[in-house]
Amino acid sequence: MNLSGKKIVVGISGGIAAYKCAELVRRLKDQQCEVKVVMTDSAKHFITPLTMQAVSGEPVSDSLLDPSAEAAMGHIEFAKWADLILIAPATSNIIAKMATGIADDLLTTLILATPAKVAIAPAMNQQMFAHPATQRNLKTLASDGMAIWGPGQGEQACGDIGKGRMLEPNELVEFCTSALKPSVQPLLGKVVTITAGPTREALDPVRFISNHSSGKMGYGLAEAAKKLGATVNLISGPVKINAPNGINLSHVNSAVEMRDEALRLATESDIFIGCAAVADYRAADIAEQKIKKQGDEMTLTLVKNPDIIAEVASLTRNRPYTVGFAAETQNVEQYALGKLKNKKLDMICANDVSQAGLGFNSDNNALTLFWHDEQISLPTSGKKELALTVVKAIASKLD
Ligand code: C5P
Repeated sequence: MNLSGKKIVVGISGGIAAYKCAELVRRLKDQQCEVKVVMTDSAKHFITPLTMQAVSGEPVSDSLLDPSAEAAMGHIEFAKWADLILIAPATSNIIAKMATGIADDLLTTLILATPAKVAIAPAMNQQMFAHPATQRNLKTLASDGMAIWGPGQGEQACGDIGKGRMLEPNELVEFCTSALKPSVQPLLGKVVTITAGPTREALDPVRFISNHSSGKMGYGLAEAAKKLGATVNLISGPVKINAPNGINLSHVNSAVEMRDEALRLATESDIFIGCAAVADYRAADIAEQKIKKQGDEMTLTLVKNPDIIAEVASLTRNRPYTVGFAAETQNVEQYALGKLKNKKLDMICANDVSQAGLGFNSDNNALTLFWHDEQISLPTSGKKELALTVVKAIASKLD
């Protein structure tokens, strides 16, 4: 039995598909897992707590403010008990509450309080599903790390035809099984150091030279490496995104600061990934006072920044497996292979930033991975998903 011994909370919100939950709980119990059911008030209009109690063999929980239920198992204890919380059906209303972090009943409170994986099986009228607000909320939930299973396409209880049907119980059981499969962690015990974001090269106390790098790809790589079991150091230039939990984050501004931090960490690392968009040049002198407006033209003298990744790749002792990035607007393969060789890298991930919607500042990217004797093209996908594929590809090359 694939789910044997697992603990699943089935959270039912108020949609017509709730009638399928009795079957869902039966099929989960067939897999010999423990199931507890939590219902919202509106769910009880569609299926009774008595039915759910009968199929789960456990009392149904529905209230946050019931002292006797809290005495049996407090809501925090309940949230910690679960290996998985599956909200099925997930109505547009509960999806909106989850996307904003509202916790006004037992189910929405458990969702905020649980360290477990949370999955939703959306079910609603096709027009409600297609509404920009629902789509926006689903995107938020996906970026918060929640799994979204379905919805399916077809005839709906209201007579409409379209996307919005809750997945069938057997399909949801399959999703639960793969979500709870022990994950393979190929980087367990490994240390990965990643540079991310832009650098800022000061000109005077108020001005700097920088670029549009958002840091999303580097942060995605950090999250992916963590997920695959690594201890992760992330050396980040100034960005507007939050770092994933559980990684060692160092904030830097200039390329020189980034180099110092990179060299400090590189020899303790098994893998070094240079994803930062490091400024090629910095001001020869940083003016102590704000530079005043002068004539119609002004000339800045810039000096070359250290090539951080080339320095790491040239380490003679404790050199990590070194991976670079190359953002190009033309001759992608030729330039990427040139950098792989000249910087003495083990691998380079190249992308064509001239393509609309890809690369810098975008949520999506497409990469080609080059080694000295091999290459793989990865199709366009979200940066997080792509990051996981890249880190898995790197892990597969380690001894
Ligand atoms: O030479 P280019 O900037 O195109 O090379 C890109 C790769 O080199 C990236 O991996 C980037 O993080 C790294 N790099 C660096 N230090 C620099 C310039 C680039 O580590 N000064």
